[in-house]
Amino acid sequence: MGSTPPEAESLARAAARARLDHLWQRGRDFLGCRVAILGGAMSWLSERHLVTAISNAGGFGMIACGAMTPALLDTEIAETAKQTRQPFGVNLITMHPVLEALIDVCLRHRVSHVALAGGLPPASAIARLKHGGAKVIAFAPALAIARRLVRNGVDALVIEGMEAGGHIGPVSTAVLAQEILPEITDVPVFVAGGIGRGDAIAMFLEAGASGVQMGTRFVCATECVAHPNFKKAFIRGAARDAVPSVQLDERFPVIPVRALANKGTQRFMETQRSVIDRFNRGELTQQAAQLEIEHFWAGALRRAAIDGDVENGSVMAGQSIGLVNREQPVAEIIAELVGQAVDVLARRGETAVPARAAAG
Ligand SMILES: Cc1cc2nc3c(=O)[nH]c(=O)nc-3n(C[C@H](O)[C@H](O)[C@H](O)COP(=O)(O)O)c2cc1C
Repeated sequence: MGSTPPEAESLARAAARARLDHLWQRGRDFLGCRVAILGGAMSWLSERHLVTAISNAGGFGMIACGAMTPALLDTEIAETAKQTRQPFGVNLITMHPVLEALIDVCLRHRVSHVALAGGLPPASAIARLKHGGAKVIAFAPALAIARRLVRNGVDALVIEGMEAGGHIGPVSTAVLAQEILPEITDVPVFVAGGIGRGDAIAMFLEAGASGVQMGTRFVCATECVAHPNFKKAFIRGAARDAVPSVQLDERFPVIPVRALANKGTQRFMETQRSVIDRFNRGELTQQAAQLEIEHFWAGALRRAAIDGDVENGSVMAGQSIGLVNREQPVAEIIAELVGQAVDVLARRGETAVPARAAAG
């Protein structure tokens, strides 16, 4: 078996790079960046440092508004804009009590892309953002919802499988991709959940995605403000350690969140058990019991991610945590992902730019 001559190998890689650029061209055009990788918004972590590092490295950073007040969001956008000339976006949680005021802040700063997360976005919010000149990104957990969102005017969709870190739905990334990518062609679709290497990026692009969104892989970026304990937990963690929160009783729904199993997740089970017992004994109303369960995790991500209490806080992490094995600058992470995507495309020998692309 002879080895490939260096010139042939570099030609093959150049062709594979051209193919990659072609595959995610729609995503790059939509986002206005070189690499169609969205930095998934992560509450507390996706602030000016990580967001600008991602955008400056050619990807697309998203500020996580989370529970920020309009004033805090205003400052964060202004500080981010000072540190990059590249485009970046803002992720708003639709159930935020002052969503309208947050939208105003984004429009005032002329934020180019706004993602509406955490439930089906109201048509009025989509319309206001679009009217104000922003592109709207929404999350589609099923095909019927994807179709409705497109009818309501969203400019792009993210489909996020249950492998992801943070709040999750019940369906895997691979199944969502098969269900939605062939059907939704009017707007670009970005795939999220469980993506840790460029091989997977190439796979979803070939299945029709315009780009990807990644969170877990960026937690250990040098530029990420996560507490060293949080980063260490990611470097140590394996896929099987990142598990969804468990609901003990169908009368008391628990929103599933994928996070590392720790003392906090154990205590959450004990709390549910005790609350359900007290409800069954008539010591708590259903509403009070539900609230006690919901309040258990209040402030828990901050406790782990910023304060470093990774035993009692919520270490939200996706299954791709197993592919995080050291702290690295964002630019290196993105270069690695792109390199892996190019490698896999070159290996498959699918190096010809399709006639459609060649024809422009
Ligand atoms: C620590 C952490 C916090 C997150 N916080 C948010 C959030 O505030 N809003 C949101 O829409 N998604 C949030 N996510 C989801 C990410 O934006 C992204 O979609 C997800 O991480 C992609 O899957 P992956 O973790 O497998 O890469 C969070 C994820 C993590 C790991």
